[in-house]
Amino acid sequence: MEISLDKFATSVLFVIMTTLSCMILNWVWLRPKYLERCLRKQGLVGNSYRLFFGDTKDSSMMIKQACSKPIELSDDIVTMILNEALRLYPPAASLLRIVHKETKLGNLIIPTGVEIALPTILVHHDYELWGENAKQFNSERFSEGISKATKGQVSFFPFGGGPRICVGQNLALVETKMALSLILQNFSFETSSSYAHAPCSIIIVQPQFGAHIILHKI
Ligand code: HEM
Repeated sequence: MEISLDKFATSVLFVIMTTLSCMILNWVWLRPKYLERCLRKQGLVGNSYRLFFGDTKDSSMMIKQACSKPIELSDDIVTMILNEALRLYPPAASLLRIVHKETKLGNLIIPTGVEIALPTILVHHDYELWGENAKQFNSERFSEGISKATKGQVSFFPFGGGPRICVGQNLALVETKMALSLILQNFSFETSSSYAHAPCSIIIVQPQFGAHIILHKI
């Protein structure tokens, strides 16, 4: 029996298309439904799985909202607030360095092997460097940027410094701003009366009893 090339190619195409369709059907419908049935048997409650409704729908709605309602806070104000928060509560309270080669530092000669702790949090709270209101939250001090606020001295280093400076600092700031802008488009918030201001340093500086906030839908 002879099979023409055309017929052979059509058959191969048909097999490929059928396999692909089955895979897609399995991926978007059969498998999620099967997983849902398994989880329901174990007591899962909640909405049924629906194609293209769920995370995809939520994310596209959030993106639409983010584009349509730009928040009024300018980037500079948010940067000032974040800098001031990082000044008063630097997550890394101190940095460690080991001296690898005898070094002259001011009047001191520091021998090889000495371990030096740079107390970020103490430098950030220093009255001589930051003035009388050093312990107060005042984002205005960063209104003209970091170098003006620090008068050109190395007195603000929440992300460390030198060759080992935090590689994630820009990502951390961008992520914070994105999260904040998404929250502020839908909610206003205030601290709860149950919030107790008790920063403590357990590996990183953190609120000892959590940061209790109340969100209001807007
Ligand atoms: C507010 C958030 C963050 C703070 C306050 C912070 C702070 C720091 C500090 C103080 C150091 C030590 C720098 C030094 O020794 O001079 C450091 C190092 C580092 N950070 Fe961050 N960091 C943050 C977020 C992140 C994120 C989001 C990432 C990664 C995505 C990251 C990755 C790293 C890495 C890999 C190092 C080691 C760099 C090296 O030793 O060469 N950090 N960070």
